[in-house]
Amino acid sequence: MSDKSLFLQQKSMPKIISDSIVVKKQILNDKYFILELKPFIVTDSIEAGQFLQLQIPHTNDVFLRRPFSIHDVTENHHIRLLVQVIGKGTQALQQVNEGEVLNIIYPLGKGFSFSHLQNKVLLVGGGCGVAPLMLLARKINKMGILPDIIIGTKNKADLIEIQEYQKLGNVFITTEDGSEGTKGYVTHHAIFEHLEAYEQIYTCGPEVMMKAVAKRAKEKSVPCQVSLENTMACGIGACLCCVTPSINGNVCVCTEGPVFDSTELLW
Ligand SMILES: Cc1cc2nc3c(=O)[nH]c(=O)nc-3n(C[C@H](O)[C@H](O)[C@H](O)COP(=O)(O)OP(=O)(O)OC[C@H]3O[C@@H](n4cnc5c(N)ncnc54)[C@H](O)[C@@H]3O)c2cc1C
Ligand code: FES
Repeated sequence: MSDKSLFLQQKSMPKIISDSIVVKKQILNDKYFILELKPFIVTDSIEAGQFLQLQIPHTNDVFLRRPFSIHDVTENHHIRLLVQVIGKGTQALQQVNEGEVLNIIYPLGKGFSFSHLQNKVLLVGGGCGVAPLMLLARKINKMGILPDIIIGTKNKADLIEIQEYQKLGNVFITTEDGSEGTKGYVTHHAIFEHLEAYEQIYTCGPEVMMKAVAKRAKEKSVPCQVSLENTMACGIGACLCCVTPSINGNVCVCTEGPVFDSTELLW
């Protein structure tokens, strides 16, 4: 174990603090890139929908770690992150090169539940919210179910990794400007006229989109799991900055979520 690697015992699940090597950096466009990390300590128990907290290098300006969904896990236990450049932290992360070492705490939070699935499922991703849906689609696919995946972005340039999602499910696209797929928001797609065909819906993306998806799912009595991206500091339930109101009172998104059944949330 390296000096910077240790296990953090939190509730029932041990969390790992580990250095990891950037084995691959893939620039998708000026806003998005993928980092593939090889952690010094690996675990078999990463759930789709869990996230990690990453220490930002190349700057003294960003004190807090930043949360990123676990986008995918390769067969040799490498972790892939899909990063959207937003502010100081992600700009600094963009400067990282292959071979550099990054410190991560993982796996954090509770992921999607899917072991009950038998039939048709729908995954709905908006913008960078598609990130956790890759590992989810892969796990569902391994169960012999081909999920329908609808991805909505502002325009064609924001559509990323579409070919990868197409390997795992039937992909449908919406863009707000109509430059690809159906014009409008994801909920404008014809799929939303037949939601009762689905056993379960999963969604991640802007909160306004997830609320709209959850509302339509509720109208058709289809269960819907949503993955929240509230602003976080510690990521381990200590600072309470990520709380969200639920039917069980205020809950920490970092430990009780980020995935919730939509009916648990006071939206
Ligand atoms: C559980 C979880 C999973 C996430 N997964 C991913 C992922 O897979 N890929 C990815 O690119 N990003 C993801 N994010 C969002 C990512 O953590 C933020 O974009 C990042 O922390 C921004 O850091 P920054 O220093 O670049 O920007 P900052 O300088 O911290 O912020 C820039 C601006 O973005 C806003 N902002 C910061 N964080 C968020 C947020 N979570 N939601 C909305 N606005 C925010 C700030 O208020 C500010 O206006 C996730 C967040 C959470 C909580
Ligand atoms: S981020 Fe600190 S309690 Fe959730």
